[in-house]
Amino acid sequence: MSESFCHNEESVYCFREPRIEDGRHIHSLIDRSKPLDLNSLYCYLLLADHFRETCVVAEREGHPVGFISGYVHPSKEDTLFVWQVAVDETVRKQGIAGRMLENLVQRPSLKFVSYLETTVNPSNLRSRFLFESFAKRLRAPCTKSTLFPEDLFGDADHEAEILFRIGPFSSLHKVSAE
Ligand SMILES: CC(C)(COP(=O)(O)OP(=O)(O)OC[C@H]1O[C@@H](n2cnc3c(N)ncnc32)[C@H](O)[C@@H]1OP(=O)(O)O)[C@@H](O)C(=O)NCCC(=O)NCCS
Repeated sequence: MSESFCHNEESVYCFREPRIEDGRHIHSLIDRSKPLDLNSLYCYLLLADHFRETCVVAEREGHPVGFISGYVHPSKEDTLFVWQVAVDETVRKQGIAGRMLENLVQRPSLKFVSYLETTVNPSNLRSRFLFESFAKRLRAPCTKSTLFPEDLFGDADHEAEILFRIGPFSSLHKVSAE
């Protein structure tokens, strides 16, 4: 079971694996979610198809309003790497991003995962708060190191990418993150 639900006074949210039909909505959501880099629509279609088990959509009234892309790290089989996280501006600060992360780590198909990695730009405080808060809820350490220094991006005016590694977390703490 990879679907989960939550609600506030106004709406019910469903957290589920993406479908290929979500691809163009995800592409549009990422386009609106600065400072994320926008990838091609084809890339999001591939994610929604080949990588659906490690990606999640937050849906409200039938429309995707949140998305996380991720994959199992190719050389660390216990590690889920989270690539992009986006929540529609109209529904931010309601815990939607945190719920999407919970949905991922609680999936029975990902029960072998005991670490979560992601990268954060130093100036993106909301992203930093999201992952630090998630680590606290999992009662897991969060270590930080530079994965891609700024100079690797050449003239692209791109900040360094700081690697956050959260874990180890146990299935017990995955459940208590609910
Ligand atoms: C970053 C982003 C995904 C967060 O989505 P969200 O649904 O608003 O996040 P949540 O409501 O789940 O908040 C996560 C945590 O961060 C905290 N937080 C969020 N914004 C904050 C702020 N400006 N100041 C302090 N804390 C903040 C929340 O309180 C929450 O902590 P809690 O669980 O302890 O309450 C969203 O702002 C976004 O899409 N930004 C644009 C794209 C982006 O920068 N993505 C991240 C890089 S991959």
